[in-house]
Amino acid sequence: MILDFDRLPILETARLRLDPLVEADTQHLFPVMGDPEVMAYWDVAEIDDPDLVSAIVGGQVAEMAAGRAFYWAMRTLTDRQFLGVCDLSEVDRWHRRAEVGFILGREAWGQGYAQEAMQMVVAFAAANGVRKLTARTHLGNRRSEVLLEKLGFEEEGLLRGHVLKDGERRDCRLFGLLL
Ligand SMILES: CC(C)(COP(=O)(O)OP(=O)(O)OC[C@H]1O[C@@H](n2cnc3c(N)ncnc32)[C@H](O)[C@@H]1OP(=O)(O)O)[C@@H](O)C(=O)NCCC(=O)NCCS
Repeated sequence: MILDFDRLPILETARLRLDPLVEADTQHLFPVMGDPEVMAYWDVAEIDDPDLVSAIVGGQVAEMAAGRAFYWAMRTLTDRQFLGVCDLSEVDRWHRRAEVGFILGREAWGQGYAQEAMQMVVAFAAANGVRKLTARTHLGNRRSEVLLEKLGFEEEGLLRGHVLKDGERRDCRLFGLLL
């Protein structure tokens, strides 16, 4: 059985606790998604409407309930400070495949938190029958590329004009990890 959704897992690392995302996390995610620097390489521009962030989180909670994805709120173990969100989405049971994603508030960058969380998410995926992980980055998202390479992902190709953002088509890099 690949990725059992009956119980949404809480994951812990040396410094972090990952809890399944809930609607109340919207208030913490709103300032993160409102930061132009954080959103520079995201598929949509920074968001200044709290209702839109609420709708995104609601959609992600519904995806979990439908067994299509896991989204986790990342917090520090010591003081439960919200850092960001990471996920396993596009779960394909037949092909034993999923896509990873991650977003951290800017003040949490540069401390190895994303790497620590994603190492745990990769291990969780491997332990639950996933055999292939993918990730997609916008060209120029060096921080994400470095993180994915540290996790063992390899570049698999270029998706030309894959995203429409600010009126322009953007290229994306596709990364993959065989487990
Ligand atoms: C992508 C993103 C999560 C990467 O965050 P990050 O903090 O750079 O990633 P890591 O967790 O790997 O941390 C690496 C940094 O922590 C430092 N670090 C400090 N303590 C560390 C530790 N104990 N272990 C590992 N690294 C540590 C490293 O030296 C490195 O620093 P540097 O960036 O100054 O070289 C973050 O930039 C982000 O949220 N970006 C916006 C959203 C986004 O684009 N998401 C991806 C879409 S595909």
